[in-house]
Amino acid sequence: MKYTVILPAAGRGKRMGAGINKLLLELDGVPVLIHTLLVFENDENCKAMILAVNPDERDEMEGLLNRYKIKKPVKFALGGAERQQSVFNGLKEAGGEGLVLVHDAARPFITKSLIGRLAEAAERDGAAILAVPVKDTVKKAIGNHVAETIERSSLWAVQTPQAFRISVLLEAHERAGQDSFLGTDDASLVERLPHPVAIVQGDYNNIKLTTREDLVFAEAILRQRDR
Ligand code: CTP
Ligand code: MG
Repeated sequence: MKYTVILPAAGRGKRMGAGINKLLLELDGVPVLIHTLLVFENDENCKAMILAVNPDERDEMEGLLNRYKIKKPVKFALGGAERQQSVFNGLKEAGGEGLVLVHDAARPFITKSLIGRLAEAAERDGAAILAVPVKDTVKKAIGNHVAETIERSSLWAVQTPQAFRISVLLEAHERAGQDSFLGTDDASLVERLPHPVAIVQGDYNNIKLTTREDLVFAEAILRQRDR
């Protein structure tokens, strides 16, 4: 299942608090951005990558692609103020046909086999996401008091990549723009078309580097892989 991947990389990493875009932090001496890109570089089904970047970081990121000898075609798109805008700008570079994956550049532990299963589901159903069963009990609150305990067996923690027929994702983003709807992932835009979204079981190791303690997990995951 051939695909193009859009990698939103234009965040500022505020919750990480490193003072720089967290994608430029190094794990095992290699920038997070490169860890992520190398998975797609080494996946024969990936036709091209589209990186949504901050204009002031483009040269640095382009330099990294050269230094780590990324050979696949990489296009750059302009990062927006919100992730959704960054993805939409990337999507406009993706062309009209086939499958597109959207993957947070901040999730370096994605694997080829997860990508393959996800792409297969999206090819079949038009839209698919990776997700893992929620481990914690989740409660909805009003202020500091519990309003409701949500039945855990139906809850999934959603990851990326998320995969779509390009035409479906384009329609979803255009509709969200018209309605001024802002979602925290791409599938939520597709859901409201409405269009069904398939769930493919992800992996608990496919973490997003968000806060400082995620870096500790990340080092541990890398060490475990080296063994
Ligand atoms: N992203 C983006 N454009 C934005 C915001 C985020 O391309 N305007 C990207 C990030 O670079 C990251 C992914 O979307 O790869 C997931 O976002 P998140 O984890 O929230 O990263 P940041 O926005 O950088 O972090 P924070 O919210 O803590 O500032
Ligand atoms: Mg963010």
